[in-house]
Amino acid sequence: MKAVLVDQESNLSWGEADRPQINADEILVKVHATAINRADLMQRRGMYPAPAGASEIMGLECAGEVVEIGESVSSWNVGDKICALLAGGGYAEYVAIPAINAMPIPSGLSMNEAAALPEVFATAWLNLFIEAALVPDEKVILHAGASGVGTAGIQLCKAFGNPCFVTVGNDEKLAACIQLGATAGSNRHEGSFLEKATAFADGTGINVILDPVGGAYLNENLQLLSVGGRLVLIGLMGGSKVEMELAMLMMKRTRIIGSTLRARSPLEKAVVLDQLVDRVWPKIASGEIKPIVDTVLPIASVEDAHALVASDKTIGKVILSVDV
Ligand SMILES: NC(=O)c1ccc[n+]([C@@H]2O[C@H](COP(=O)([O-])OP(=O)(O)OC[C@H]3O[C@@H](n4cnc5c(N)ncnc54)[C@H](OP(=O)(O)O)[C@@H]3O)[C@@H](O)[C@H]2O)c1
Repeated sequence: MKAVLVDQESNLSWGEADRPQINADEILVKVHATAINRADLMQRRGMYPAPAGASEIMGLECAGEVVEIGESVSSWNVGDKICALLAGGGYAEYVAIPAINAMPIPSGLSMNEAAALPEVFATAWLNLFIEAALVPDEKVILHAGASGVGTAGIQLCKAFGNPCFVTVGNDEKLAACIQLGATAGSNRHEGSFLEKATAFADGTGINVILDPVGGAYLNENLQLLSVGGRLVLIGLMGGSKVEMELAMLMMKRTRIIGSTLRARSPLEKAVVLDQLVDRVWPKIASGEIKPIVDTVLPIASVEDAHALVASDKTIGKVILSVDV
């Protein structure tokens, strides 16, 4: 089969790789579309290796058609159209997937749209509603609001009754986030978000912050959180080392939660995906929540697609079409 290969200099090419073999509890999927995640940019440079046992090929999600099922799989049939959360292997013509990590495609969506869903909706759902136990009316800050995860988070907040504030890199992104349902936001290149977020908090404080930035935002985040507030750290784009005031943590009973999705077991991921299919997929089928696709490129243009994501200009997802 064909797959995206990485050479010694971290260059990408669409070349030949072995077709994966499936285990008894897996399905083999013919990939029609996959999508880029920020983590892929690090993996190609050797900074975010695949978890033990996962494919070395990049790609944390896909949409496609089931072409083979393992002997103990009863939940899927050959010919089913699915989208899936992967530990790796999506940048290829075929991928082997634990059957419990595949989901039906919400009705009405194309393969390209379905490939935009698994990683960012699973990340936003897991961290907002499971890790941070967000309840209706609580106020949320989503940093990198126009990212794949951010655009999923905004729509989930709107759909489940949570006002949200975003930080973004330009005014066009801010307008897009407000269009999607954010109440307000701040351009990170125009100074601290503290003042605008304080106005958004309106005296009650922020209940939950979903933060892929880390060090650079930690002190402002802690200042903004209400008593009992939760900060979920999902990335370190703004650094991993910081000095902090611990007294404030105790006084406000703040919880700081670190979270990654990829390294969780198939069973742990399935808990998140089952909730998504149950609670979120109907809202996607009805059009209330949408996959946000910035650009679709053929997988042979994977270098251009990575450069586009790295440019910080995208809103939502960059999709790689594998219909070659
Ligand atoms: N822990 C997990 O399980 C998990 C899972 C998925 C994703 N993530 C993390 O979540 C984040 C979003 O992922 P994604 O794939 O959705 O990303 P994405 O679509 O590539 O968007 C990332 C955005 O982050 C902003 N950004 C870049 N550098 C920044 C910096 N130094 N400070 C503040 N903002 C910066 C940029 O937007 P602006 O210029 O508009 O700010 C950029 O467009 C990444 O950090 C990713 O690693 C974590």
